Amino acid sequence: MPDLEIRNLHVRAGGDKQILRGVDLTVGQGEVHALMGPNGSGKSTLANVIMGHPNLEVTEGQILWGGEDITEASTDERARMGLFMAFQYPVSVPGVTVTKYLRTVLNAHRDARGEEPIPLKEFRETVQEAMSLTKVPEEFSRRYLNEGFSGGEKKRMEILQMALQRPRLAILDETDSGLDIDALKVVSDGVNAVAGQAGSDTGVLIITHYQRILEYVRPTHVHVMYKGRIVREGGPSLVHELEAKGYGWITDELAEAAA
Ligand SMILES: Nc1ncnc2c1ncn2[C@@H]1O[C@H](COP(=O)(O)OP(=O)(O)O)[C@@H](O)[C@H]1O
Ligand SMILES: [Mg+2]
Repeated sequence: MPDLEIRNLHVRAGGDKQILRGVDLTVGQGEVHALMGPNGSGKSTLANVIMGHPNLEVTEGQILWGGEDITEASTDERARMGLFMAFQYPVSVPGVTVTKYLRTVLNAHRDARGEEPIPLKEFRETVQEAMSLTKVPEEFSRRYLNEGFSGGEKKRMEILQMALQRPRLAILDETDSGLDIDALKVVSDGVNAVAGQAGSDTGVLIITHYQRILEYVRPTHVHVMYKGRIVREGGPSLVHELEAKGYGWITDELAEAAA
């Protein structure tokens, strides 16, 4: 049974604006899926609705997680079930240190599993391990979350959280945007260390407008979204086709097919 199965999903936002118009997508255990497509095609909306964003309304279709219908589940429940999303624009939390924040998140997950809060020593070791895995400098742990962090540093923090949580599925929405090549490499290495590896259960849905990050995080499956539908699917070679031809050929083909 696949981890995530999206069936004929139709989603509306802001009252009557139809954004997704029949999306089907299946992500199996440990698979790395890339979701590409032009700006405004509905990629972030799909990510948000998978996480249960309250402002989005599913008007038709279903989201299944391990075979269970989670279309109506809260964001919190989904996170506890092992879904994780790294945001395009991470928020700052003034006055809360990285260490405090991570400990709170980790304990919330443990609490959801009926476990005791993590002992301090074990927490320190776990964080150190995750920090070295994602190459986040140790001095970060004393800083306030995302306050004064550069774009690249915020993205690294998201990957650090992913490394700590070891989700079953990590959704990365434009985590590559605005990163220089060094930061992109660090983020990609972090993703590769946690997910999509032989023996890892963690699957990835990597949403991107560009193919650049896909040179470092190799997808097993590629989907192209356009106007709220997935209009093309394929293997890694589809990335190169898009790189060579842009998105224009897809929209041209669709226009021809409709004519
Ligand atoms: N909450 C919302 N209310 C109204 N329109 C929205 C909302 N969220 C997204 N949209 C619109 O839905 C379309 C798809 O947006 P989005 O999912 O962000 O696309 P992408 O991530 O592919 O760039 C856009 O036209 C956007 O303006
Ligand atoms: Mg987006």
